[in-house]
Formats: sequence, structure tokens, C-alpha cells
Amino acid sequence: MPSVGVTTFDGDAPTPVFVSVRPHVRGAGNGDSTENRGPLVMPVSGQLVDRYGRIHNDLRISVTDRCNLRCIYCMPEVGMTFQPLDALLTFDEIVRVARVARELGVTALRLTGGEPLVRRNLPTLVQRLSELGFNDLALTTNAMLLTPLVPSLKDAGLKRINISCDSLKPERFNSIRRRGVLTTVLEAMDVAEAAGLSPLKLNVVILRGQNDDEILDFAAFARETGRIVRFIEFMPLDAQGQWDNSQLVPGKEIFEQVSARWPLQAVDTDSSAPAERFAFVDGQGEIGLISSVTQPFCGTCNRLRLTADGAIRNCLFSDDEHSLRDLMRRGAGDDVIAHALRRAVWEKYPGHAINEPGFLSPSRSMSMIGG
Ligand code: 5AD
Ligand code: SF4
Repeated sequence: MPSVGVTTFDGDAPTPVFVSVRPHVRGAGNGDSTENRGPLVMPVSGQLVDRYGRIHNDLRISVTDRCNLRCIYCMPEVGMTFQPLDALLTFDEIVRVARVARELGVTALRLTGGEPLVRRNLPTLVQRLSELGFNDLALTTNAMLLTPLVPSLKDAGLKRINISCDSLKPERFNSIRRRGVLTTVLEAMDVAEAAGLSPLKLNVVILRGQNDDEILDFAAFARETGRIVRFIEFMPLDAQGQWDNSQLVPGKEIFEQVSARWPLQAVDTDSSAPAERFAFVDGQGEIGLISSVTQPFCGTCNRLRLTADGAIRNCLFSDDEHSLRDLMRRGAGDDVIAHALRRAVWEKYPGHAINEPGFLSPSRSMSMIGG
């Protein structure tokens, strides 16, 4: 394995250098990504590509680590600590990173949190990002604050919305999300759809013993509404560190349950999409399975993440991150930011290794990283 010099990463002007090839002790996730299919040295022009040949064209931007809910799979009920406000990227800084990413071939942006809508004036940010010309500009939200914001988000250029909703029973909704009201979320779905933010996707985290009795209800909801219900496996990304396999309901089990009631057929998808899509054979809608733990899709991952405090992360499950905020606040030029993005992609591991002995949950939880 070639071992060559290491890049500097402190605001120096980027120079084309060989980057050391670390031993990839972590697993490949879906088994096909350990081959070195990519370039042998980090490219200094062209698209963001890693050493496995994965082109990164999808950037998730967390606009805040704060949230108005406290979902049991995400945050403790009390005692969650948040970043000081001046640690968060300003809108100018977010737009700057997005612009540089756009120049490096990123075509899709998703705004996340925490809960992105608790960040004041979000439509202004959406407008500014929309002007950069991404093909896709989407938002993941818990929808508690969505209804009144739908018109301004739509006018600002938002294209799509994913709404998280883990129960269709009001009391259950409360016990999983601890705050908030189901009817507010259901109303927001109608309003978003009526405004043309469609197809609407629902994110449903299924937890054993909590809401696994609602799998068929959610499938029926997808059939009745035409909304795409995506069942997500519980991932070791909760701030409490209480994740364990016994609470996880494998995507395969969900598939078997739904297809026994309403036959499903696979929909041809963009191979980098995390959700495996399945249409009901009778033509009445579709569901998605995001089996991040039991069937990792690392081999085709095209995603990069920018945390609310401005760190670039190449994987939800890797603690390697670099602060673009610090670079920007030290006066770095766009070329330095571009280099930092390239390097973050280049350093990506082939897979997340959740299922391997010795796996440690990342030090930051989902709400801190951005989903
Ligand atoms: N496992 C799986 N999904 C999670 N989300 C938040 N925490 C977890 C977790 N530990 C989901 C939310 C939201 C999306 C951004 O991530 O439900 O839909
Ligand atoms: Fe908030 Fe989303 Fe975490 Fe729930 S999962 S507490 S809505 S950030």
C-alpha cells in the first residue's frame, strides 16, 4: 500500500500533494467497497471523489443543533446541551461553503438540524442557497413549525420536504417524541403538499416494542395518501448512547410484513439513494426502507455533511471532521475551503463498521451532526 506525504490543513494555500493511504481497518459495509476503485492520489480538480471512486455530490447542511422535540431515539428528555449561538455558522458562512461545494460538483443540498425550522429566518437562507443553482434543494423537518412557513419556503425555492413522524396514534406520538402534537404534523403534511412540495416523504424510525405494531398502519397511510413512507432502522446515533441491536427492527422484517399484506415490487433507483424503494404491485403508492445497519449502503454513498458549527464530516459514523468555520474565521480563501472539502472526501472510510466488533458510536449524535 503506497504511503506518501500528508496534506497540511491549516489555512495554507493548497498544493497538490500525495495523501497518505491509511490502512482501512474498518469494514466495507456492504462488502463491495473495499476495492480501491478510485484515483491513487487525491485529485486537485474536478469532482469530489474518494479513493474508492465514490463521487460526492450531495451535501447535508445542519443549520442548528437545537430542536423543539426530544425523540427517544435522538435526545434525552432533559439535560441536552447545545452549542453557543456564536459557534454556529452564520448564513454568510453556510452560503459560502455551499457555493464552493457547488463549484466542486455538488448538485444536491439538504437542510437538516436538530430541527432546521427553529433557526430564525430559514427562508432567507433557502433563497440564498437556491440562487446558487443546485438541482435539488430539500429540507428534513419534524414539521412542528412548518405550516406557517410553507409559502415562504416554497417561494424561496425549496423543492422537497421530508417530514419525520414515528406514530399515527396521538399518545404514541407523544411518548416517542416527548413534545409536540401529531395533528400539527398531519396538518403540515397537507399544507406542504397543497403548496406543491411533493412527493412528500415521511421518515419513520421503527423501534422494537414502541411502534413496530404500526408498520402496516404506515403502509396503509402510504397507500391512502400517496406519500412515500420510509422506514428507518434505529442507528447508534442517539445522544444518550442507549442504542442496541435489540431495539432495531431490520428492514427485511418490515418488507416481509408489508409485502405479506400488500405485494411489493422493487423500484429502479438511483444507486446512491439510501432508501430501497418498493412500489405496491397494485399501483397504490410506494414505501422505502433505509436499512443503514443491517444492509449498509456505504459502497455507493455520495454524501458529505456540514455540522451546525461548521465541521465537515464525511460519514455519520466517523468522528473525523475538520472545522471549515475555523478556516473561514481565520480568513481562508475559497481555494482553502475547496481543498478541505476534497480532503474530507478523500479520507472517507469504505464503510461504517457498525456490525463489527469494537465499533464505537460516534461522539456526536444525529442532532449534532445533521441527518
Ligand atoms: N436512528 C435512526 N434515525 C434517526 N433519526 C434521528 N435519530 C435517529 C437514530 N438514532 C432520524 C429522524 C429524522 C432523520 C433526520 O433522522 O427521525 O427523520
Ligand atoms: Fe428533534 Fe429530529 Fe432529534 Fe426528534 S429526531 S429530537 S425531531 S432532531
